[in-house]
Amino acid sequence: MSKEKVVLAYSGGLDTSVCIKWLQEEKGLDVICVLGNVGQELHGLEYKKQKALDLGVIDCHVLELKDEFADEYLTKAIAANSMYENKYPLLSALSRPLLASKLVDIAHQYDAKYVAHGCTGKGNDQVRFEASILTLDPDLEVIAPVREWDLKSRPDEVAYAHEHGVPVPEGANDNPYSIDDNLWGRAIECGVLEDPWNEPPHDVWVMTKDPEETPDTPTYVDVDFEKGVPVALDGEKMPLAALVEKLNQVAGNNGYGRLDLMENRMVGLKSRECYEVPAALTLITAHKALEDLTLERDVLHQKLYLEQTWATCVYNGQWFSPLKKALDAFMAETQKFVTGTVRLKFFKGHCTVMGRKSPCSLYDYGLATYDRDTTFDEKAAVGFIEIETLSLKTWAKMQGPTSLAAQNLS
Ligand code: ARG
Repeated sequence: MSKEKVVLAYSGGLDTSVCIKWLQEEKGLDVICVLGNVGQELHGLEYKKQKALDLGVIDCHVLELKDEFADEYLTKAIAANSMYENKYPLLSALSRPLLASKLVDIAHQYDAKYVAHGCTGKGNDQVRFEASILTLDPDLEVIAPVREWDLKSRPDEVAYAHEHGVPVPEGANDNPYSIDDNLWGRAIECGVLEDPWNEPPHDVWVMTKDPEETPDTPTYVDVDFEKGVPVALDGEKMPLAALVEKLNQVAGNNGYGRLDLMENRMVGLKSRECYEVPAALTLITAHKALEDLTLERDVLHQKLYLEQTWATCVYNGQWFSPLKKALDAFMAETQKFVTGTVRLKFFKGHCTVMGRKSPCSLYDYGLATYDRDTTFDEKAAVGFIEIETLSLKTWAKMQGPTSLAAQNLS
């Protein structure tokens, strides 16, 4: 009888390489690997593929996903100015649903019963993978070897690898951090960072220069948006993935994009997280500046609330949920007139909006100017204040600090 099949999210690192053997030996499954390129640092792609094949997998699919990630995921994150807890631009939370959707597609191609990932039982990524997979196909079963096996430490895992013929990369025992990266940035956890009082050591940062070592003259960049989507840098049109890569370099070179924060994970614990997100922070800053010019006030105010809901929903792995779909519909409606240009200045770890313009701008110079020939009717303000304060005045008279009622209370 042929074996059941499992489709594994494979990164080429030690954890997921050990997963291959574990799934074969402990679970008796045939393994199909999927390695998705979402813009992470990918040394030796061919080597990683060959390593999986040498370990006896049926196939190892390497998928180029950068453009899909940018066009289907980052565009929505930008539209929603997505920042979990107002700080974290969600890089890992954005890539997992895309990878999960590819795992499900490939599971269907191979008629596989199982899907597997290499996440631990403490993090958010396991929830994101599993919620996405099970929303796309509730009949698939998920296996999370790292959560199940008894390999408690890195040395245990290295020993298992040696015993089972899994090649162990040099220095596998001494990488001090856990890293996850993609086009949208880089997350760094673990090691000395687990004490929130420790300053992040220099070797934490690779995409951003130390602001003390950045150029002494500022760099200006103009970003063009069309309907909320960044389409050009300094007038040069380019695909979003390329634009993000370019901005990561420009902003990172000026020391912009570092975050060091405490974060509330889904599973209920707080963790200390360092992030490098130069392009993400830049584009969200620029996008907000353009929305400030083009969104009608009540839409803008409502959007601020819903942005938080969107970010929490995506952080929590609900990318394919009906709530997220409904929120996207709201966001998409708001982006119709978010077209124009934002001028940014990068200097010594800062990014500042220097100007914004739009053919759809709602800014009316004639109304806003303090010059004498304004079109704003200042006399109309009298009636406006009269009506606007009526409720407050009524309350003040009857129950306010000087009212009889309040005095009788004390
Ligand atoms: N805390 C971040 C998040 O939940 C980053 C996770 C990074 N993942 C990792 N495997 N190191 O989105």
